[in-house]
Amino acid sequence: MFDRRKFIKISSFTSLLGFTKVAAASDASAIIKPIVISTWDFGKEANTEAWKIIGAGGNVVDAVEAGVKIPEADPNNQSVGYGGLPDRDGRVTLDACIMDGSNLSCGSVACLENIVHPISVAKLVMQKTPHVMLVGDGALQFALANGFIKTNLLTPKSEHDWKEWLKKAEYKPAINIEKELSNKKIIGDKNNHDTIGMIAIDATGNVGGACSTSGLAYKMHGRVGDSPIIGAGLYADSEVGAATSSGMGEEVIRTCGSHTVVELMRQGYLPEEACKKAVERIIIRNPERAKTLQVGFLALNKKGEFGAYAIHKGFNYAVKSNNEEKIYDAKYFMD
Ligand code: GLY
Repeated sequence: MFDRRKFIKISSFTSLLGFTKVAAASDASAIIKPIVISTWDFGKEANTEAWKIIGAGGNVVDAVEAGVKIPEADPNNQSVGYGGLPDRDGRVTLDACIMDGSNLSCGSVACLENIVHPISVAKLVMQKTPHVMLVGDGALQFALANGFIKTNLLTPKSEHDWKEWLKKAEYKPAINIEKELSNKKIIGDKNNHDTIGMIAIDATGNVGGACSTSGLAYKMHGRVGDSPIIGAGLYADSEVGAATSSGMGEEVIRTCGSHTVVELMRQGYLPEEACKKAVERIIIRNPERAKTLQVGFLALNKKGEFGAYAIHKGFNYAVKSNNEEKIYDAKYFMD
């Protein structure tokens, strides 16, 4: 027999937690597509580039590659690609991955040096090799064999910042200060880092994503974060949606973050709720550690609904669709 009191109790409990499960999409006309969303406000320019492709009916994988190439080529963005802050040995090492949610094809490169567009190498790993991931010298050899040109990625500004850092050589990644930096038109900082994570749906309803970073400034040589790890920094499955992350990669890897978000959406959680639960898992397992670091997740379901959540205040993201072009602030647990 239906127990109304028990039902009210369960409903109140789930609404107290702030989580509501939703039915699967059934009304095809309600789907927002194409749509592209990216981490941070610098994702706006990247979205504009991606939109040139998906807005004209192009493929989602081509679109996210084109979008992510914008911050990769920007010397003023010290957290992605050319001009990225180096490791403690002064070497700029790049991580990137790309995923096609229609068939779970994916490609990735890690610790790649001297190539401006690691995302394009990752795409070729996906398209031309039997593998998912190439790292270090192997990734470089593959890139050069496919026509990429060697470039010195260490700009004078990043070299100067690294030499300043060497005076004390203290490795202290700080809680995000991206918003402040962004207001000052500085992207990235010697104590900080962020990442471009872009997820999108094309006009055919196919979901995909791309992620690229130079990783934590002054990391140990060889350190790889979440961004090139399929399931950590990025995951896309056209049956469900996609997710990506920014922030302390070690925490995202520990929790298989983006895959967790996508699987929560598969269970029926809305994007923001799925991101919130994934962030909560990081906090619950080590609340003290979580006080000192930032992680933000960004998610998009196959209906075109999107959302984000972060440990700390300051994470934001850029959205572009036929309905809007806007920067949103993510919700968060801690000031
Ligand atoms: N999320 C980027 C990194 O940790 O390298």
